[in-house]
Parts: sequence; C-alpha cells; structure tokens
Amino acid sequence: ADFFRTLEEKSDHGKLRGDYSGCDERYVVQQDWQAYTPEQHALWRRLYQRQAKLVPGRACQVFLDSLAKMDAGDGIPRFDRTSEALRRATGWELVAVPGLVPDQVFFEHLANRRFPVTVWLREPHEFDYIVEPDVFHDFFGHVPLLFNPVFADYMQQYGKGGLKASRLDGLPNLSRLYWYTVEFGLMHTPEGLRAYGAGILSSGGEVEYCLSDPRPRRVAFEVERVMRTLYKIDSFQETYFVIRDFQQLFDETAADFAPLYARLREQEVLPANTLLPGETNIPPNSKSGS
Ligand code: PHE
Ligand code: FE
Repeated sequence: ADFFRTLEEKSDHGKLRGDYSGCDERYVVQQDWQAYTPEQHALWRRLYQRQAKLVPGRACQVFLDSLAKMDAGDGIPRFDRTSEALRRATGWELVAVPGLVPDQVFFEHLANRRFPVTVWLREPHEFDYIVEPDVFHDFFGHVPLLFNPVFADYMQQYGKGGLKASRLDGLPNLSRLYWYTVEFGLMHTPEGLRAYGAGILSSGGEVEYCLSDPRPRRVAFEVERVMRTLYKIDSFQETYFVIRDFQQLFDETAADFAPLYARLREQEVLPANTLLPGETNIPPNSKSGS
C-alpha cells in the first residue's frame, strides 16, 4: 500500500496533510481548479502517463473502458465536469475534500452517492510513494469504477454499512472489507487475474506485483475470511482476495452483517500472510501483464 486510509490510523503518525480551515461540516471544499500550477498539471500528466501504460492487461476491463472515457490525461481534472458525467451514468457525484475525513463523514458521503476526492497533489519527490491519499490516487484509482452500476451500488451499500457498523462495534471488520476490495481487490477473468482495487491501480509497483509475483497469497473472496484478516498499510499486500465479478461482491455483502460482527468478536484475527488449511492459493499470471 502507498497510503493510510483512515483518520484513526493516520492520527498515530502526526498531523494530517491538507488545509481543513475552509471546509464545511461535511468536510467539503471548493476544488479551486484555477489555483493548480502548471508544474502540478505537468506532474499529473507524468503520473497519468506512467499509470496509463501499466493498466492495460492488468486492470479489469470496466476500469479501462471508464478511464478512456474520462479523458483525464491532460492535467488535474475538474471534478465538476466528471461529476456531470457520473450523475448521468450512475447518479454519483464527486465532492472535493481537504484530505482524509473522519469515518462517519466518509460513510455519509458514500451512503448518499458522493465520493470525496482529495484536492491536493503529491510533490515530485513523492512520485512513487505517498503516505496519504492525494488527488491522483482518489481520482485515477477510484473514480473509473463509479461509472459501473453494480460497483457504484456496492459503494453506496458500503457507506450505509459503515454507519451501521459504527453502532455495532464492527468498524475494524468493515474496514478490512474496504481495504481488500475497494483498495486492493483482484478479479478472476477468463483472460487471467486482473486488478480493480484503487490502491493497486494508482501504484506504480503493486499493479504488476499483485498479479504475477509468486510471494503474495491470492485467495478466493469470502466476506468472513476477509473481515478477520489484518492488512499492511506500509508495504505491498501479503494477501489479495479474488472475486469473480462485481455482482458476486454485491450479492455476498448484501446480508445483514450484525450476526457476522458478533461471531467475529469470538474469533482471532488472522495475520496478513495467512493461508488457512484447505484454502487454495490461486496461481499468479505469467509476467508481462496479458
Ligand atoms: N450488508 C451490510 C450490513 O448489513 C452492509 C454492507 C453492504 C457493507 C456492502 C459493506 C458492503 O451491514
Ligand atoms: Fe483510496
């Protein structure tokens, strides 16, 4: 991974990046697109070009098709233009935020089909590694899949599930589901393994590693298994969970999680590098990305 997702995780490590002084109670700000400098647009183009070269044959087709339609390679995109297209496609919109937002705020946005996108861009020396999500991660990594109706619905359900999990003491479990799907999910396609997680698809190194390196485990997606499994925030993942398609993801997370949270409280958490007895380690793709 190349960033921390939650405010709670980050707060152990000091102050958040980003200017929170001008935001409203939902943590929303204006994108202020005019304020980006030519150097920042140029850095975006470099990030975009590197990543756009890596994703064919490695990202799932839905991601590639949406990315092509988004036409976001020329510089830091205007969120309002993408919001317009998104609203037409799936009823989602983007909101600009100063950076990481509290879990409750994040869940509220998702539950209302609003995706928070960080306004600031990393510095040139952070080209390969960034500690908190920036606009490149949020936009390049997350926005394409919001054009897919099934994934878009999954994200909204996740937001609603987050509000509910907070009342049921289930947040650590639910966060692992986000991590291993939305951020680091893999999909088994007829052409081989493909990535759909934003943390992978916005990373220069993990996009090839997750598919073809022999070291990490690749395990068939199963909600309870995922929710028991710890994850790495400062290195490549030691385990990836593999779905068949987004419909499976939606269907297998549709049931009420309350009994699941209760059961998980009685179980031990699993280290990130676990392979349970009887579990199949799905073989990697052969290298080259296709
Ligand atoms: N079914 C979950 C619940 O009852 C909600 C949820 C759906 C959470 C999809 C995550 C993803 O809490
Ligand atoms: Fe993310």
